[in-house]
Amino acid sequence: MKRIPRIAVVGSSNTDIILRVRRLPRPGETVLGGALSIVAGGKGANQAVAAARAGGQVALVARVGCDSFGRAALAGFRRDRIEARRIARDRAQPSGVALICVAADGQNSIAVAPGANACLSPADIRRARAQLARADWILLQLEIPTETVAAALEAAAAARVPVILNPAPASPLAPVLLRQAAVLTPNETEAELLTGVRIRSESDASRAGRALLDLGVPVVLITMGTRGVWVGTRQMQQQAPAFRVRPVDTTAAGDVFNGALAVALAEGRPLLDAVRFAQAAAAISVTRPGAQPSAPRRREIVRLERTGQIQPAR
Ligand code: RIB
Repeated sequence: MKRIPRIAVVGSSNTDIILRVRRLPRPGETVLGGALSIVAGGKGANQAVAAARAGGQVALVARVGCDSFGRAALAGFRRDRIEARRIARDRAQPSGVALICVAADGQNSIAVAPGANACLSPADIRRARAQLARADWILLQLEIPTETVAAALEAAAAARVPVILNPAPASPLAPVLLRQAAVLTPNETEAELLTGVRIRSESDASRAGRALLDLGVPVVLITMGTRGVWVGTRQMQQQAPAFRVRPVDTTAAGDVFNGALAVALAEGRPLLDAVRFAQAAAAISVTRPGAQPSAPRRREIVRLERTGQIQPAR
């Protein structure tokens, strides 16, 4: 029997407060929206849920507050069978919250109050050493303090576990940290910030991707929404086309991509195959509202990979 791939995620957990609007408000503008919804989110937690539903056995290292949002997040992780032993309950800080506007075309704008996420510390990483060392792949993003990301990269290197670093939200990061990732997965904005290359086309993405490869990152995947993914290694560079879907909400598409990618790589799939699996997962997620509620199950991903067709939403 095939062993279930083990994924450890270190990152943020938020509650997303979402308002659907016809179009995103401009600075200083008020727009009226529809009904408010409250769902589980946070880049780290979204990636953990995506990886669990894609077929991984997942441990999440995170921090939530001792409040109802934190309790709801933990209940969600239990439902997705995510190991939560290293999710600390912070007595001094509230759980993270994201305020999200989603426009009719699926685009969003997000502002985050980090709360307990800002207190996830290198000490939390030390306590999670066993979970990290047991993993086949580790997933990291940047919605937690940089020194914690650095500590997680160090722990991963000590345990010889490869890391997918998703440099989101866009923030500057020292090359010494970037090159510790086995796979770097920026979107266009993030790749632009890290390289200074303005990305308007596939050839811009290729220039930015090569700049990241030149820093010493072995695999660079630049996610470009409907334009697909620029896939680069020292030996091979190409554009992987996107699945064509009608987007209703792009929130967490990148997170779902990363969670599914970790599972596929841990299963030993070749890089382009793993990217296609991750693209299929992300494509399904944009056809559904919300962050964690949009993450598809493995059977749905496999079906889209094989047939190009999405099952109707549950
Ligand atoms: O990537 C989407 C996520 O970003 C949302 O779930 C929100 O919580 C913010 O962290």
